[in-house]
Amino acid sequence: MSLNWYPIYIFEKDGYEPQPINSIRGVKVAGKEICVIRTTNDYFAVKDKCPHAGGRISNGWCEQQQIVCPVHRHKFDIHTGKGLPEHGDYLEHYEVLTNTQGVFVGFKKHWWNK
Ligand code: FES
Repeated sequence: MSLNWYPIYIFEKDGYEPQPINSIRGVKVAGKEICVIRTTNDYFAVKDKCPHAGGRISNGWCEQQQIVCPVHRHKFDIHTGKGLPEHGDYLEHYEVLTNTQGVFVGFKKHWWNK
């Protein structure tokens, strides 16, 4: 899968701890509203719009590696975006890359840009 990478945080500009551990934040990257989750070990990024009824995911919270939508409390795996079997929904999730420069999110390239 071919991805375009965009910075969420650049350490030199945003600091080396740009987001507290165990926090959730809504940010706009390349025109997309995304929800950035920082755990003890890693960053994760998902679409900031719940597939159920459009709730703002970044106003939610995390429980056991799942992000919980604050509106009707559907839960989604932060690694895959997969919802619980009884809900059968899926939250778009994005690849995240952290290196010495910063934290980057990968969006799929559109076929017409390849
Ligand atoms: S809007 Fe998110 S669970 Fe309903």
